[in-house]
Amino acid sequence: MVNIFSFFLWIIMFQFCHSLCFPVANDIVINYSSSSLSTVPKNLPNLSQILDLSQNNITEIHLQDFVPLHQLKYLNLSSNKISNLAPALFKSNQKLECLDLSKNQLSNIECHFLYNATSLKYLDISENKFLSLRLGKAFSFLQDLEYLSLGSRKKIKFQKDDLKEISGKQLEEVSIKIKLLSEYGHSALTILRTAKLHIVLPSIKNFNFLKDILDDAFNTSYILTLSNIECCQNCNQLSVDCCEVCSKRRNIVSHCCSDCSRYIESFKVLGNYSRVQNLSLQHLKVDWETSTQILKIIWDSSVENLSISNMKICQVRHPLSWFHFQKELRTFTLSQIEFLPFYFNQANIYDVFEDLKVENLAIYESGMIFFTCPKEGNTYKLIDISDNSFTSDFFLQDCSTLKSLETFILKQNRFGQLFKVSNMTTYMISLKHLDVSQNQLIFDEIRVCPWTNSLIKLNLSSNRLTDSVFTCLPSNLEILDLQKNNIYSVPKVLKELNNLKELYLGANKLANPPDCSKFRNLEILFVEANSFHEPSSIFLQSCQRLTVLNAASNPFTCTCNLRGFSAMNKNTQIEMIGWPKSYRCAYPDILKGTLLKDFHLSEVTCSTTLLLVIVLGTMFVLAILIGLMCHILDLPWYLRMIWQWTQMKQRTMKTDSYQLSENLVYHAFVSYSQRDYSWVKEQLLSNLEERNLRICHHERDFIPGKGIIENIINCIEKSYKSIFVLSPNFIQSEWCHYELYFAQHQVLSEQTENLILIVLEPIPQYLIPSKYYKLKSLMAKKTYLEWPNDKNKQRLFWANLQAAIGISLTAP
Ligand SMILES: *[C@@H]1O[C@H](CO)[C@@H](O)[C@H](O)[C@H]1NC(C)=O
Ligand SMILES: *[C@@H]1O[C@H](CO)[C@@H](O)[C@H](O)[C@H]1NC(C)=O
Ligand SMILES: *[C@@H]1O[C@H](CO)[C@@H](O)[C@H](O)[C@H]1NC(C)=O
Ligand SMILES: *[C@@H]1O[C@H](CO)[C@@H](O)[C@H](O)[C@H]1NC(C)=O
Ligand SMILES: *[C@@H]1O[C@H](CO)[C@@H](O)[C@H](O)[C@H]1NC(C)=O
Ligand SMILES: *[C@@H]1O[C@H](CO)[C@@H](O)[C@H](O)[C@H]1NC(C)=O
Ligand SMILES: *[C@@H]1O[C@H](CO)[C@@H](O)[C@H](O)[C@H]1NC(C)=O
Ligand SMILES: *[C@@H]1O[C@H](CO)[C@@H](O)[C@H](O)[C@H]1NC(C)=O
Ligand SMILES: *[C@@H]1O[C@H](CO)[C@@H](O)[C@H](O)[C@H]1NC(C)=O
Ligand SMILES: *[C@@H]1O[C@H](CO)[C@@H](O)[C@H](O)[C@H]1NC(C)=O
Ligand SMILES: *[C@@H]1O[C@H](CO)[C@@H](O)[C@H](O)[C@H]1NC(C)=O
Repeated sequence: MVNIFSFFLWIIMFQFCHSLCFPVANDIVINYSSSSLSTVPKNLPNLSQILDLSQNNITEIHLQDFVPLHQLKYLNLSSNKISNLAPALFKSNQKLECLDLSKNQLSNIECHFLYNATSLKYLDISENKFLSLRLGKAFSFLQDLEYLSLGSRKKIKFQKDDLKEISGKQLEEVSIKIKLLSEYGHSALTILRTAKLHIVLPSIKNFNFLKDILDDAFNTSYILTLSNIECCQNCNQLSVDCCEVCSKRRNIVSHCCSDCSRYIESFKVLGNYSRVQNLSLQHLKVDWETSTQILKIIWDSSVENLSISNMKICQVRHPLSWFHFQKELRTFTLSQIEFLPFYFNQANIYDVFEDLKVENLAIYESGMIFFTCPKEGNTYKLIDISDNSFTSDFFLQDCSTLKSLETFILKQNRFGQLFKVSNMTTYMISLKHLDVSQNQLIFDEIRVCPWTNSLIKLNLSSNRLTDSVFTCLPSNLEILDLQKNNIYSVPKVLKELNNLKELYLGANKLANPPDCSKFRNLEILFVEANSFHEPSSIFLQSCQRLTVLNAASNPFTCTCNLRGFSAMNKNTQIEMIGWPKSYRCAYPDILKGTLLKDFHLSEVTCSTTLLLVIVLGTMFVLAILIGLMCHILDLPWYLRMIWQWTQMKQRTMKTDSYQLSENLVYHAFVSYSQRDYSWVKEQLLSNLEERNLRICHHERDFIPGKGIIENIINCIEKSYKSIFVLSPNFIQSEWCHYELYFAQHQVLSEQTENLILIVLEPIPQYLIPSKYYKLKSLMAKKTYLEWPNDKNKQRLFWANLQAAIGISLTAP
């Protein structure tokens, strides 16, 4: 872990000078890169801080071009056609820190334009047309300079005191590109005081100076990078030297390597110095013999950390058996190693790793397929073989010598069987961190996986693992990464992982967050980009120690079930990564895109019990109210009355609409039992006549000389309605007349709507003799008015009665 970290630190350090030039977030950036400009644009915003004019056709810079840009920090003029710059060109740009003039046509290295550019930290004037490297006086005023890159595309002279003007400065990094060199003065480099030195070495035709340059380079800084170590040439670009080799052996070789021994000789000086500790070699084109020889020299020198990148091995003539190392290297990094010949004994090359003495080994992007088990006594602590072509089939299956290995990175290879990976670790008793991410791992056989117990961090992300992976995990894990696999759920039955603190399950297919019953000490849980629709927050009950949760970017369905979850941020101390921006409703459609933070449903809408309680409660209260009203206020009676009243109102209105018979004299005829006479007189008659209603009262309006029936019929015919005051008395004594009447006047009797029955006292059914069909049917229809004893109700009763009979009569 520490090693990986420091590796990245190194990368950052390596890029230090460039990061100097990187714009920060708020800088005002004007970018005219690759815009086919031939002059600097006019009217650049005078607050510009970053100005990129690279890759244009600018030939000339005018004195005024950058004058208004007082804030300018960064100016990139790389890849233009500038041949000349005015002295003190940047004197108004007091903030200029970073200036890139590489790949132009500048020929005067005195660089008078640098006068007064006092804040400059980064300066690149490489790949111009200088003929010498003798820096001008202007450089001595660059007090803050940290990075300087020099060089020329022309054949150049590099003499002893050329760099004198900066010799007193403590620089971070100096880069010198001298591919074409006509002269080198001894100790021209050693006068530099720089932490890092990068030299692009002269190419094959200028080998004369190689030894002297390396001699000085190794004695200049602690961190040295050497580029362009090429002693092999492509046969298709035949050089005279190679011609013979290539033509003779055309079918076997694609390259000819000559003069490689010059490198070996020159590197030997390294053994006499103890200054270089970090050495990087870049862009190599050598044969196998040369590369192994150089390695041996380096291994026996003061170098602690060696990095080789972009190395082409052009020939493998006599693969040497590897040699024994005296001492060990801390770090050996190989990247982009390519073997150009196709036929050679690869075993010898892989055998290299058997004997290598190094703590940290990294081999990147080199298409490696095989790794031999190192010999007993190796000191490997970290092996990183990311981005190669290793498969799990034979990979270290029976290797028991990697006892001190702590970190093993197998990222981006072709490992297939998780079981074999676990089997591989059996003897790695110190292994703490294993990274097998970005492979093709599967686990389909249910077997016990023989992991080493020492494993603490396991990265299995970006593979093809399914739920079954949980049965194949080392038991002491603290950090487990299973992102980007095909996991649908975390099985309930599995071995407990009580040390697990961090679990990454993002980008799988989980429908719910896992509960922590099997990982009780879980502190960090990542389950973003899964398939949670309605995750509940119940899982938290078992996750007592959880402090960080990332459940962002799931397709949340915003319904009641989600409320617990969406309130989690409020109700717990757990830090929710991505909250609130990345937590949005995906369904239902009307809520799509709504932040969970803004999604609220009230308690009532969601709790069924509460809803039931409320509905039933209301119904109960209503029932009680209705009961009370019925009981105290006799509601049904009122209702019936009101209904009848409306009925009658309707009927009278209908009646009004057609012509009433003209001989109507009375509003109503009233018939009653003699025993009810007092009620009729005091209540009925007085009330109705008070309302200007005329009542035919057969005793009062009796026409002498006619029989009772005749009189009654006469009365009925002259009245709009007939009112019968019903009581047990009436039924027993009077109804017979009417029954008879109804029988005789079949036609009339059908107009039952002309009848109004007032029930004075309740009449039990049995009291009605069975022969009174009409009465029975009328009573059954309940189309009668009940006389209420309650004074309040009586008013409604009268109103009802009035409505029933109150029409305007034409006859007097
Ligand atoms: C030297 O190289 C090692 C490994 O490559 C790296 O970790 C370290 O940071 C480097 N040192 C410096 C000062 O760059
Ligand atoms: C300007 O744009 C080019 C390409 O569009 C980009 O590569 C370059 O980094 C940009 N420069 C700056 C300073 O952002
Ligand atoms: C520069 O100008 C030449 C012609 O003068 C043109 O061919 C080339 O594409 C231009 N380059 C850029 C970067 O605009
Ligand atoms: C910036 O430029 C504008 C015209 O474009 C000018 O009026 C203004 O004075 C300038 N500001 C500074 C600080 O130079
Ligand atoms: C300047 O621009 C060139 C080409 O766009 C780029 O490669 C280079 O890194 C830039 N220089 C700096 C210091 O950013
Ligand atoms: C420019 O530099 C020269 C020489 O160092 C100095 O005398 C002069 O004052 C400087 N001018 C400005 C504007 O800084
Ligand atoms: C290394 O350089 C120093 C000056 O920095 C010099 O004194 C010393 O003699 C050189 N060593 C060799 C072996 O050249
Ligand atoms: C190393 O230094 C010794 C003397 O100190 C010298 O004899 C030898 O030639 C040097 N080796 C190389 C390769 O320069
Ligand atoms: C060499 O690398 C190791 C670990 O990678 C680091 O600790 C050490 O500081 C490096 N040495 C130098 C001189 O940078
Ligand atoms: C597991 O490793 C052992 C040695 O540790 C080996 O003998 C065995 O063949 C391996 N099993 C598989 C299935 O590769
Ligand atoms: C696992 O590896 C992937 C990439 O291969 C990386 O993004 C992730 O951060 C690693 N996980 C952990 C926990 O380090």
